[in-house]
Amino acid sequence: MCGIVGYIGNKDAYPILINGLKKLEYRGYDSSGIMLYDKKASVKKAKGKVSDLEVLYKNGKEQKGCIGIGHTRWATHGPPNKINSHPHLSNSGDLSLIHNGIIENYDALKAILSKKGYLFKSETDSEVLVNLIEEVKKTKKVKLGKAVLLALKQVVGAYAIVVFDSTNPTEIVTAKLGSPLAIGVGDSEYYIGSDPSPFLEFTKRCIYLNDHEMAIISLKKGLTLREIKKDSIIDPYIENLKHNIEEVEKGGYAHFMLKEIFEQPQSIKDTFRGRLLSQSLPIKISSIEEHFNKFKSATRIIFISCGTSWHASLLGEYFFEELLRIPVEVEYASEFRYRNPIINKGDIVIPISQSGETADTLAAVKMAKKRGAFLYGICNVVGSSIARETDTGIYTHAGSEIGVASTKAFSCQISLLLLMALDIGNRMNTIEEKRYKRVLKELSNLPETIEKVLSSAKKAESIANKFLKASNFLYLGRGYNFPIALEGALKLKEISYIHAEGYPAAEMKHGPIALIDKNMPVVVIATKKGNYQKVVSNIMEIKAREAEVIAIVSEGDKEIEVIADHFIEIPECDELIAPILANIPLQLLSYYIADKKGCDVDQPRNLAKSVTVE
Ligand code: M6R
Repeated sequence: MCGIVGYIGNKDAYPILINGLKKLEYRGYDSSGIMLYDKKASVKKAKGKVSDLEVLYKNGKEQKGCIGIGHTRWATHGPPNKINSHPHLSNSGDLSLIHNGIIENYDALKAILSKKGYLFKSETDSEVLVNLIEEVKKTKKVKLGKAVLLALKQVVGAYAIVVFDSTNPTEIVTAKLGSPLAIGVGDSEYYIGSDPSPFLEFTKRCIYLNDHEMAIISLKKGLTLREIKKDSIIDPYIENLKHNIEEVEKGGYAHFMLKEIFEQPQSIKDTFRGRLLSQSLPIKISSIEEHFNKFKSATRIIFISCGTSWHASLLGEYFFEELLRIPVEVEYASEFRYRNPIINKGDIVIPISQSGETADTLAAVKMAKKRGAFLYGICNVVGSSIARETDTGIYTHAGSEIGVASTKAFSCQISLLLLMALDIGNRMNTIEEKRYKRVLKELSNLPETIEKVLSSAKKAESIANKFLKASNFLYLGRGYNFPIALEGALKLKEISYIHAEGYPAAEMKHGPIALIDKNMPVVVIATKKGNYQKVVSNIMEIKAREAEVIAIVSEGDKEIEVIADHFIEIPECDELIAPILANIPLQLLSYYIADKKGCDVDQPRNLAKSVTVE
């Protein structure tokens, strides 16, 4: 969490920093701050959003300085207030630092520094780090770069940092372990960001720092990359990014989330491009072609992930067990990494992550790797840490997802999982040819079918109007629709702050039914096929207890339309496709409820897009 930006060059740094922070606000928005150097370092901080910081700069017209660093915070140590905001200054006032991550041994380091007379204004681990660097610089009589390197050797934890020394105002130093950090390379100028979005409009040449690497960026000498543990110089690898700027703008939509919901047909097209060539040609996934033997001989597949990606994993289990006949387990990465799991030779571990930076998923990947698993990653962000840590894998190509609530990335994850399961199942002969062809045909038409589902947005909006005062919701689904019930409930709670629970429909009788009365709206995913009639019975049971039912049904379903209070239709389809479609009206319902309640849809309270701390 937290977003960091930096600039060193010959342009005014302020607009670059403030606009960069706005682009990174999805990473945290508890408070923000900027240090600008113009003959002296000046720091401004504000509690709240970047717009609150911007007010302090009165449009920035007066702001001079061609070097600066900025930070938008998701609070870990200490409450979100001005004092705990970054940049943090060292005791002398010479060094300023921004940090994303957690210094785990900060208490011990703080005690040592306190004994030496250091004073701390904030409750943060980051202020300890900037003073540790100052202490090393002073006692070892070294320059900033060396001091950062030596100080980081004493640190346990995760960091992406940028440090500036106003006694040598021609360079900045940056380093990374665990948290992401990208450097944009311009003509005699450099940009720094937690991801490339702050500098995409200026340069597409990017260096992604690896763990244990640091860069000393000097106006006089350019960029020097060093490996921290070995203290050796390494050659930087400059990537030419293909991202486009429009992806990170709202494009006329009221919110990123709404834009991203409507982008789903295109995102799925992009995800299938080059892989699903036509309904009559074989699926082409190079990483599966190359490692097919691993899948063929796999004794078990283990999905690891968090949040929405965990829901995708759960649906992955349903798809893979059905079409591959290989046992599958689905694990919360945060549990898996700490519970001494059994990993056998022949296990394939599949981490799923939109950001590719989620701390728990990344740590679980590292642990599984150490224990000899074969790792096949499914990530959205190209070049992300999880993508780099895995043996092989596949990108979802959903495009940049800015809204904190995951929508298009989830749809791409589950569509890709089905495509993978079809491909592997077909190669292994565990899927009937007729079924393979039918599902492949429906997958080929998926972008157009999703367009059709999106045309129900008005209906979702009018239903939303009726539930703005609800304080609880229940979401029910069976079979392939069960993970979608969980995802629907998560979407509603994270952006509207309405409490919502997802349940397998048949489990309702084993407890949750006690909650049902006229004040408990129940969303039921009741598409044809699968256990349709059993879900119809569940709806009758709910209606007998006077709750309002919002049903997601297959087109033309007359039976449920009569008993449910509200319904949204999705095209009739194979039961493997239904969850992909049924999810979309639930995204819309959550969006409209949250927006109409006046919630901050794109940046819900307490959340951040990439959870890079555990
Ligand atoms: O980037 P990841 O897919 O690894 O993120 C996992 C979760 O943090 C994420 O899905 C989270 O639950 C979203 N806010 C859901 O909308």
